[in-house]
Amino acid sequence: MNGSMASGVLDLWAPQQEKESVEVNDRSYDERVCDVLIIGAGGAGLRAAIESHDRGAKTLVVCKSLLGKAHTVMAEGGIAAALGNVDPKDSWEVHFSDTIVEGQHLSNWRIVEIFAKEAIERVYELERYGAVFDRTPAGKISQRPFGAHTYRRLCNIGDRTGLELIRTLQDQVVARGVPFMDEVMTTCLFRDPKTGRAAGALGIDIKTGKLLLFRARAIIIATGGSGRVYQVTSNSYESTGDGIGMAYRAGAELMDMEMIQFHPTGMIYPPGVRGMLVTEAVRGEGGILTNSEGERFMSKYDPKRMELSARDVVARSIYTEIMAGRGSKGGGVYLDISHKGADHIKKKLPSMYDQFLAFADIDITKDKMEVAPTVHYQMGGIRVDPETAESSVKGLYAAGEVASGLHGANRLGGNSLSDILVFGKRAGDAAAKSATAVDLPSVDSKEVEKEISRVLSPFSSTGSANPFHIKEEIASNMWAHVGIVRNAVDLEAGLVEIERLRKDAKGLKAVGPRAYNQSWTDSLQVLDMLLICEAMIRSALERKESRGAHTRSDFPAKDPKWLVNIITVQEDGKMVRRTVPVSTPPQELQRLIKEDD
Ligand code: FUM
Repeated sequence: MNGSMASGVLDLWAPQQEKESVEVNDRSYDERVCDVLIIGAGGAGLRAAIESHDRGAKTLVVCKSLLGKAHTVMAEGGIAAALGNVDPKDSWEVHFSDTIVEGQHLSNWRIVEIFAKEAIERVYELERYGAVFDRTPAGKISQRPFGAHTYRRLCNIGDRTGLELIRTLQDQVVARGVPFMDEVMTTCLFRDPKTGRAAGALGIDIKTGKLLLFRARAIIIATGGSGRVYQVTSNSYESTGDGIGMAYRAGAELMDMEMIQFHPTGMIYPPGVRGMLVTEAVRGEGGILTNSEGERFMSKYDPKRMELSARDVVARSIYTEIMAGRGSKGGGVYLDISHKGADHIKKKLPSMYDQFLAFADIDITKDKMEVAPTVHYQMGGIRVDPETAESSVKGLYAAGEVASGLHGANRLGGNSLSDILVFGKRAGDAAAKSATAVDLPSVDSKEVEKEISRVLSPFSSTGSANPFHIKEEIASNMWAHVGIVRNAVDLEAGLVEIERLRKDAKGLKAVGPRAYNQSWTDSLQVLDMLLICEAMIRSALERKESRGAHTRSDFPAKDPKWLVNIITVQEDGKMVRRTVPVSTPPQELQRLIKEDD
């Protein structure tokens, strides 16, 4: 296939026709050609789409779920940007310092600088796009406190901030007529055999089972994280790490894969909603954590900041209380906001009020909640260039949770929503610019055929491994062995289990027709989940210290020797790692960084 449009290529802008499920052995594919292919339609993907489209690039968005169904909505309590509306002393400089310090100095300083400066304008832009923020009495965008932010910095829409962000961006994308294809799962990225540039992707139209070959001048991955490799998580079912897996298999570098954020407060019952997020805004609005003895235990762990300490600290404190036998009846700790009164709670935390009433039959205006840590976010991911969000593979960009470098060893709440706007825009801009400068890269047809064989193999498998069971085993293994507090013995045991599951996965079997076949799509997801777990565990074993969200009981201290990022990359088919020192900020930025407590 060369750079010109092959005959038989469908016009991207022609109306799509509904099709029947295709035959299980059908190797044919439809081709879609665009300038910029965006994989993922959460906040980062949508913001990238706006920018890429506005720069004149023919942009196509594909996502494996439905438009609007993204982990973005699980950033409920607010978007962090130093507007200074409530605390006029706030500034991008303080936001910069907070992010570096609470990330335990593992972040890329230039990424943080860009982020802290540009977050402010991205929030105002979001407002111009139509987001309806809560207001201060003076009519400005209101800002609430959140853990470890020096000032009240979280611009919010009650406790539905992520939802409003998605709604707003979605409106903008639809109004611009940017084409998107939902329920399309991409399985692999192709690179131009001559230049090595990202050139395309293979996809499955989940609705029909039909294969799709996407060809593009530039590709942006915005697929979010991989929280679903854990048993207890706030993440949507879609968060299986496909983007990280595809990028890794295409040769892109990953970074800081050991850094997983446990949000301190998830629901613990009923079992069907275990792990569902209880927003940090509850604590921002004055919520108090207590143990079974009625003790406000945060006074032991961070007497200054109490419930509004950094997420890693609060999560570890709750874990410690539970492990010491001071947990609540249901196995968590208590979180109480009832003293704030029903009116305040229903106005500021409407979703929490509804969520506890609907799922747990608890009226939080009267009763305490029971909460425990839940896997919420992945600080590590694809290594990117700070200015352009380009990965180590030319023409391949990454933005949002799938990328690494901003949050270091611990993300501040609310920083993810500003992250996706700042770097979604930058990725869209850079991808569109580079797309106009290159011919359509070539895709090697042999590579395509090889990938088709891999993708269809679960149908012809003679094994009987059930992908749903393997997913469950992955999740319980990660929860048991790669948790809030780790040690070499557990991590090694976790790795042995991943290797065992990988052997089982050789016999993965898809049953039934190709349309809407979850046994098929799950079989493919499982393979990337295993890769990601291996990368997480090996990096966690490598980092022999405790820093931020990575706590090792066998190496309890933070060690300056480990002021490095751990890079994971595939070389000659093998997963290898190396460390690179965290780059030092220039003097003028260094002086902004406040001393650690
Ligand atoms: O607790 C929350 O509302 C989550 C926010 C975030 O993860 O940024």
